[in-house]
Amino acid sequence: MSSAPKKQMHLAAHFPGVNNTTVWSDARSGSQIDFASFTHLAATAERGLFDFFFLAEGLRLREHKGRIHDLDVVGRPESLTVLSALAAVTDRLGLAATVNATFNEPYELARRLASLDHLSGGRAAWNVVTSSDAFTGENFRRGGFLNRAERYTRAAEFVATARELWDSWPPDGRQRPFAHRGQHFDIEGTFTVPRCPQGHPVVIQAGDSPEGRAFAAATADVVFTRHGTPEAGREFYRDVKGRLAGHGRRSEDLKIMPGVGFVLGDTAAEAQERAAEIRRQQISPQNAIVALEQVWGVDLSSYDPDGPLPDFDPDPGATVVQGRVKGADPIGTARRWRAVSRAKGLSIRQTVIETTARQAFVGTPTSVAEQMDAFVQSDAADGFILVPHLTPGGLDEFVAKVVPLLQERGVFRTRYTGTTLRAHLGLRGPGSAAAGTG
Ligand SMILES: Cc1cc2nc3c(=O)[nH]c(=O)nc-3n(C[C@H](O)[C@H](O)[C@H](O)COP(=O)(O)O)c2cc1C
Repeated sequence: MSSAPKKQMHLAAHFPGVNNTTVWSDARSGSQIDFASFTHLAATAERGLFDFFFLAEGLRLREHKGRIHDLDVVGRPESLTVLSALAAVTDRLGLAATVNATFNEPYELARRLASLDHLSGGRAAWNVVTSSDAFTGENFRRGGFLNRAERYTRAAEFVATARELWDSWPPDGRQRPFAHRGQHFDIEGTFTVPRCPQGHPVVIQAGDSPEGRAFAAATADVVFTRHGTPEAGREFYRDVKGRLAGHGRRSEDLKIMPGVGFVLGDTAAEAQERAAEIRRQQISPQNAIVALEQVWGVDLSSYDPDGPLPDFDPDPGATVVQGRVKGADPIGTARRWRAVSRAKGLSIRQTVIETTARQAFVGTPTSVAEQMDAFVQSDAADGFILVPHLTPGGLDEFVAKVVPLLQERGVFRTRYTGTTLRAHLGLRGPGSAAAGTG
């Protein structure tokens, strides 16, 4: 008797880069600039048969109280350049770059993405982000920023224009001129890069507002989301997948992949202990005050991280942070944090640890494989973008211990059956000569 095949899981590796996810105080943490770090994580992901390697991107060093944020002082290399180099030392792994649609231009970016797709034999992906502040925009000729609705209008027109450029070299190879006349772009000419192996590089989207979700449903192949709990995941999944039919798309045309952490141990208790210790290292006393100041918008350096939270509400207009997405409702967040602190008797640092923890799978390898499988089978996601807490070796243990268990459960590939990222993700191609299938 045969049972129905189980839904297959997709996996991606997030290179942690500059943030406090990486436990920098751990002796095993290395550089996030050296090419050797990128190759280490990419090689591990490819050994684990992952769908793709993912790089986030910030376009300006973040500031906190007028000074460059401690975690940003080292900076980071530009994503498409790093991925082009990785294309040469990997074979099947997808290569995803976060690139901003507010500050770039379609012709230039479409060329660079099509070029990466050629260099990698059909493995390029573009995570389309829109950015949220004028601070970032000051780095660019355009200056400033667009309001949210316009950012997404521009992003949608940007992606549509890039696709027109890629399609100006149709699969039959007969190149033709393009002309795009729109609200944000008015361009014409000829595109210089011949049709790339995937036809269109894979498009990923990572915004969460109604505008962001509408954009994803209309345009994206993959959504990178923060909804990493089973309940929130199912609700997000239902909402975004429910919008697809309105665009003539099927559920399997869009993969939903939350960013999640993981902590492994030989026993459940050991894993829980390690997870708690990692959270304490990620949220140092200094990081706890920084997190508090980002919600309250004022200097709170006189507060004791082991003492109680401020008893006043934030001023929603005040800010100490530049260059990162601000929470939409600081007063609501502050009240929620105070309620958690009161109910559980937690200090400032303990409250920040409790309320800001990234969703993580914690347990023995068997338990983590079970939890991940259940998450996917219950339609809370189609897979995960795994965010390790060590750079660059944080995925080693997962690939050695959890991937074989996922394979045993019949929910993860045992070999790459296609050559392109579209093929790994099971996406319908836009039509191209070289895209592999399977
Ligand atoms: C999971 C996730 C990851 C993101 N990663 C980046 C990033 O690497 N670089 C960036 O500039 N913006 C990033 N963003 C910000 C989005 O592009 C967008 O500007 C922001 O979420 C505001 O849009 P929204 O209101 O639709 O969420 C990310 C957003 C989400 C939800």
